[in-house]
Amino acid sequence: MPLAEVDGEVPYMSLVLVPTAERREAGAGCVSVVGLGPGGPEWLTPEARSELAGADDVVGYRTYLDRVPARRGQRRHASDNRVEAERARHALELAAAGARVAVVSSGDPGIFAMASAVLEEYERGNGEYAGVDLRVIPGMSAMQAAAARVGAPLGHDFCVLSLSDILKPWEIVERRLRAAGEADLALALYNPASRNRREQLERALELLRQYRAPGTPVVVARSVGSACESVSVTTLAEVVPESVDMRTLVIVGSSTTRVLQGEPPRVYTPRRYP
Ligand SMILES: C[S@@+](CC[C@H](N)C(=O)[O-])C[C@H]1O[C@@H](n2cnc3c(N)ncnc32)[C@H](O)[C@@H]1O
Repeated sequence: MPLAEVDGEVPYMSLVLVPTAERREAGAGCVSVVGLGPGGPEWLTPEARSELAGADDVVGYRTYLDRVPARRGQRRHASDNRVEAERARHALELAAAGARVAVVSSGDPGIFAMASAVLEEYERGNGEYAGVDLRVIPGMSAMQAAAARVGAPLGHDFCVLSLSDILKPWEIVERRLRAAGEADLALALYNPASRNRREQLERALELLRQYRAPGTPVVVARSVGSACESVSVTTLAEVVPESVDMRTLVIVGSSTTRVLQGEPPRVYTPRRYP
């Protein structure tokens, strides 16, 4: 019976059930694509933390799921990093059945990550997931963390490119590198290399050397925010591609990017353009 209709005579043993304001109707689930930031828990935003704590199901690449504190009663669905479309579909199906689902992504989920994968599957569903409330919870991206470690190399106009040619042809990567070189933009290079993709970075650096002086500052930031973090400042002439792997972000300065020598060296791009 509604609480308002209860008269003053409540039996000695009684049970009152009070629904919370957040109660969802069956079938009206939600998917939040949550950015975990590039490293430790100090880079997880309060909003992301609360989304993860409230989820019935957490879906993601195994390595990223390991960064989410376990909660009793919460279901976890770990998968391989190559199965993004399947993972996105699985999350949408769970939500369509009424669950509150968090899909985890490293860094910011909207930058070379799961937010696009989930939206692609949402669109491909052709209305199948129309009842699902879909949200993207931002996170700190690796380029922000890497830049902050050395100063402000991205302090003026810059562009962000992925060197991976798995989902786009290499000709497009080259065209964009040339355009960035021509426009004198600093560059944040994601996915610069992996175990099987070793030539892409060499080719990218070769191309950028046509537009930039040999002394142009280059930041090589590996596993930022983890126990094995390493960040070094070098130049376009001296950068060693062999030191770069899939956990590395490479920043190439513009013609105005400067290095203040010291321990550690500081790198910044002035906000005024000559
Ligand atoms: C698939 S992308 C994901 C990017 C992520 N969404 C972001 O906003 O940072 C993976 C690439 O991000 C970069 N990356 C991710 N985490 C990193 C970290 N902790 N340190 C350096 N680079 C990182 C590397 O270039 C890696 O190859």
